[in-house]
Amino acid sequence: MNTQTENEIVPLQYDPDALPREKARHYIPASDEDIAGMLKTIGAKDLKDLFRHIDPNLSMPDPLPLPEELGYDELREHLVAIAAKNRILPSFVGDGLPQYRVPEIVGHVSALRNLTTSYTPYQPERSQGTLMTHWLYQCALSQLTGFEAINLSLYDRATALFEAISCALRLTRGTDTVIVTQSVFPGDLEVIRSLIEDTRIRVIEVPCDPATGRTSPEAVRAQANEIGGRLAAIAFPQVNALGVLEDVDGLTDLAEELKVKSVAIIDPMLLATEGLKPPAQFGKSGANMFVGEAQHLAIAPTFGGPGLGIFGVRHNAKTRTDIRATPGRYVGRARDLDGRECLVMVLSTREQHIRREKATSNICSNQAFLATLAGAAILERGEKGMTAACRTGMERAQKAAARLTAHEGVALAFPDSPFFNEFVLTLPISADDCIAAGRELGLHTGVNVSSRIKGSKGNHLKLSFSDWQSDQDLQALFAFFADAFGPEKQNQANTPAPIPQTLLRTDPVGLPNPSLEELKTYYSELAELNISPDEGCYPLGSCTMKYNPYINDYAAGLSGFTDLHPQAHPDDAQGSLEILYRIQEWFKGITGLAGVTTQPVAGAQGELVGLKLFQAYHRARGETGRDIILIPRSAHGTNFATATMAGFESKTSSGQAAGIVLLDADETGQVEMASLREKIETLGPRISGIMITNPNTGGIFEARFREIAELIHDAGGLVYMDGANMNAIAGWIDLGTMGVDAVHNNLHKTWTIPHGGGGPGDAIVAVSDKLVDFLPGAQIAKEGERYVPVIPKNSIGSVHRHWGNFGHKVRAYTYLARLGREGIKRMSAMAVLSSRYVAKQLDETFPFLPPKAGEVPRMHEFIITLPESLFKKIEDAGIPRANIIPRVGKLFLDFGYHAPTVAFPEVFGLMIEPTESYTQAELDRFSQTVRDIARLIDDHPEVLKTAPHFTPIDRVDEVAANRELLVSEPIRDLPRGPGNRIPPRELVEMDLTKLREKILEAAGIKSAAATNS
Ligand SMILES: Cc1ncc(COP(=O)(O)O)c(C=O)c1O
Repeated sequence: MNTQTENEIVPLQYDPDALPREKARHYIPASDEDIAGMLKTIGAKDLKDLFRHIDPNLSMPDPLPLPEELGYDELREHLVAIAAKNRILPSFVGDGLPQYRVPEIVGHVSALRNLTTSYTPYQPERSQGTLMTHWLYQCALSQLTGFEAINLSLYDRATALFEAISCALRLTRGTDTVIVTQSVFPGDLEVIRSLIEDTRIRVIEVPCDPATGRTSPEAVRAQANEIGGRLAAIAFPQVNALGVLEDVDGLTDLAEELKVKSVAIIDPMLLATEGLKPPAQFGKSGANMFVGEAQHLAIAPTFGGPGLGIFGVRHNAKTRTDIRATPGRYVGRARDLDGRECLVMVLSTREQHIRREKATSNICSNQAFLATLAGAAILERGEKGMTAACRTGMERAQKAAARLTAHEGVALAFPDSPFFNEFVLTLPISADDCIAAGRELGLHTGVNVSSRIKGSKGNHLKLSFSDWQSDQDLQALFAFFADAFGPEKQNQANTPAPIPQTLLRTDPVGLPNPSLEELKTYYSELAELNISPDEGCYPLGSCTMKYNPYINDYAAGLSGFTDLHPQAHPDDAQGSLEILYRIQEWFKGITGLAGVTTQPVAGAQGELVGLKLFQAYHRARGETGRDIILIPRSAHGTNFATATMAGFESKTSSGQAAGIVLLDADETGQVEMASLREKIETLGPRISGIMITNPNTGGIFEARFREIAELIHDAGGLVYMDGANMNAIAGWIDLGTMGVDAVHNNLHKTWTIPHGGGGPGDAIVAVSDKLVDFLPGAQIAKEGERYVPVIPKNSIGSVHRHWGNFGHKVRAYTYLARLGREGIKRMSAMAVLSSRYVAKQLDETFPFLPPKAGEVPRMHEFIITLPESLFKKIEDAGIPRANIIPRVGKLFLDFGYHAPTVAFPEVFGLMIEPTESYTQAELDRFSQTVRDIARLIDDHPEVLKTAPHFTPIDRVDEVAANRELLVSEPIRDLPRGPGNRIPPRELVEMDLTKLREKILEAAGIKSAAATNS
């Protein structure tokens, strides 16, 4: 291992002075004159005036209970000092999150802002860079596993396993039960147990044989026989939590014989050439699905996250439809209208944004950027490097086992069971004492696995090996054992059981071996195909595409943070725990609520935590009949999908509807009070809670939120606020006073962690005092100067295998520390001001939606549509009405911008969210562009037939891509696609009249200007 342990100031890899947004106070580049001018344009006195329509009783105390902002250099020193509080030691912990050498390409790709900061590739013509990085990931994983379909990532191994369980139930009708071998990692099991609570899913855990450390297929068979026809799947690891290689062939064949699905849990690093057998070759026909963790393919442990949950399903002549029951995103091969080969997201009709409560999962933001990095890292290693990394761990483990068991009283716990790169020792002392002695000498010797072995006397230690440890680390381990247990005596050493050939890979993976330089150029070129909020307004409503400070990434990349294993002793993790503690406390201050959990890893998972907390609260009060969740029709798709996942399945029994009950909107787009009252009246004692987005997805603050909350509370229910739009109100509105019981804060929106082409997101969930005792994971308490994890007394369990996406907590913390209490209020006020300013410049050209909400002030975003006369004109030009708004979105790409959010939540709407990250001049340019787009369409509606024109590819034929589904192919070299016709950077700076001419020319339309001249 090679790490920064000194409290040194690591140099910045960028020049902040060359980045105007980076050095601007609170990352707000608008000058005081800009702000004064913008306020004047919209008729507001000052920033506070922007919130005057909201009940003043809901205001946050001023000043906020947060510290003052830090200066840029001070901030950097502060973060370096906190990172240095972690004690990074050579480690043999592994245990499902091993550490491998991080390939150099990872640092390079992580600095490509057009890849890190761009959005989910919903506009494929402007996202071929992201799509290609995702494609490479899918293809590389496909080669390693033998599976044809690899989804683009789930949160981590634990939630991937939960998703596979749910998928198996969907695929096997009339079932409700899955067998999971107890030899999976305990952290994963805890997540599964938490997530199945209050759902119809049953999971039966089959213990392994304490003598062999393996699961016997016969024990599984016996259990399966008891379950009978209700069994949907058997899930088992390839390398189990005791390091032992399971009988994957026996377990897969058993599943096939019983006609249930087999779900293999794998570590992709171990499937390289000369490694373990890929899951497609398990048993006679291969496993049906696989899941696993791949964080270590891309990055260091980083106190547990962001993780990379991998998921694969067979997609071949035999199983063409299973993929449709799976969760998450896929990228597929496509062609554009001109026949160019390209990529696009496919199968989205299964996802929450389209299928809502019938979606296959609630996942929205996934771990996309980790997938990008994992793909790049696999390619840098290539065939040779992957083989070497995989073999190094195995050879070191086999050698270490022979040496360590040569000490008096030390033996392999399962001498007859084969292992690969991890093994368990029986010690003559307790494993805890061994670990403590190791720490004193500067070693994390391993993990105490005694609780995983029935009858253990507390003396079982597991050690894990990889290419990260240095030869000196191994020598230090051997010296420590000699010190603790006396000299080696070769005659008593255990010889590790040979690994049967049947458990090993026989064919090469066949990965290419590009040079690092070639790869760096390749990824840099891919990045150029995207756009980033760095360069100009990225107006995606609901997504808050604001500026992501470079210093956040700098802080998250400090090795004091990245090299810490999440199972390190709390005394060695004081820096990381301090970050978690502070951010936990700050979010109490930001929301006005009593408790905070930092464990959830995305907004959708935050929603799930909220609903699980509601269920636990009602259960604790003996009110188990609360089976209804109220959700407004206009809510984000995740709200509906989450409610279903939590167990609020929409169904009718004995004439009574249960599950999700929809709420109507009034003519201003806010919750319709009369029908809400009626629903409360009729459903009262069955209401578990309500989920409301505020400001809502139309950018309108729900003025009667508090009244709604009171009505729900009076009925015994609880209130969830979807906090995706906190960028409009953070620091101004006290959610506690407003009646919120739980709220998620999407860190990748308001709190500036980059979107990464679709993820990882992150979510901090704040709760009212009613729910504090039920929070998941650990709370961080401060005892004197020490930070200690404490499990809440009625905790719902865990939703992440460790501490959540820790790296993202560092980013958000860094942002908050720079903003300070004043900056938070200024940030949200500027977001509202920018939005109202742009709206003002568009209001003579475009109608706003909802149509009758004219006078209602919009917050940080707003929805426009086209005048009816323009719709008609476009229809007359041959474009069906349903296609018009998405096509208008494409025209934004020709002007160097990303499209606004199209057709959500209003089918004929374009939702625009400018954010606080731009100057008045930039907002003026954007507003002028939007007006020019209207003029262009009015003059030449047919331009929409061919838009976009300057992206690397023309419009993509998504229908054909979904029909002829191709989601992987072997990578033999780096695939090349077309480059930019005109880079967005040039487009946003081009004279608008000239640009219009260019568009008309590219569309093959004779321009008016050309005719006149
Ligand atoms: C209103 C709203 N709710 C929930 C979510 C889901 O958040 P995440 O993508 O972090 O899961 C989003 C994401 O776009 C959103 O806009």
